[in-house]
Amino acid sequence: MHARILVLIPLLSMAAACQPTPQPEPEAAAVVAAEPDLLAHGEYLVRVGGCNDCHTAGYGAAGGKVPKEQWLTGSDQGFLGPWGTTYPSNLRLSVSKMSEADWVAYSGSLHTRPPMPDFMVRDLPEQDRRALHRFISSLGPAGKEAPAYLPPGQAPSPPYFQLVLPEAPAGANTTMASEPAPTP
Ligand code: HEC
Repeated sequence: MHARILVLIPLLSMAAACQPTPQPEPEAAAVVAAEPDLLAHGEYLVRVGGCNDCHTAGYGAAGGKVPKEQWLTGSDQGFLGPWGTTYPSNLRLSVSKMSEADWVAYSGSLHTRPPMPDFMVRDLPEQDRRALHRFISSLGPAGKEAPAYLPPGQAPSPPYFQLVLPEAPAGANTTMASEPAPTP
């Protein structure tokens, strides 16, 4: 019994010396483990994040039954409000111009005009934003650029949604926060 243990100990330590176990940083290991799922996770985020509702023409009207080839190619249905008129951009074109690293930096500090929920995208963990890039770039560039932004006072042509605010009480500050969209 004792003899067997004594024999085993040197054998085990020899085996350990021959097979040095790699010691990846815990964070790097987690990123690598999730890699194969990034594409599917990106599609999931696009679906539940409602990106198609605005960035894919006719998506709502078709009850979401729009082929993926047409997803996120932008829309000429404008959104008119105190910020002017904005159009959901063609994300297939924007994303195809950016490397994953560029997109991670850009999306992590995304600031657009309404009604884009930019806060939702920029607050996503980096891995989720990587997944978005992986999925959208896998669709490839397609379609044309969305119509250009119109400043307040310029009437858009239909179709457009309009935000109508109630009459402001006399003397109230009626300006609404709006920041210029960064160029991708
Ligand atoms: C309620 C409608 C709406 C929804 C939902 C929406 N967007 Fe947008 N998005 C817009 C509009 C409108 C603009 C243009 C804003 C501007 O002109 O400043 C925009 C702009 C953007 C931009 C900046 C322009 C560009 O192409 O780089 C990005 C990035 C973006 N959206 C990504 C997304 C993603 C990802 C989702 C889903 C998680 C999403 N959007 C959901 C309406 C929407």
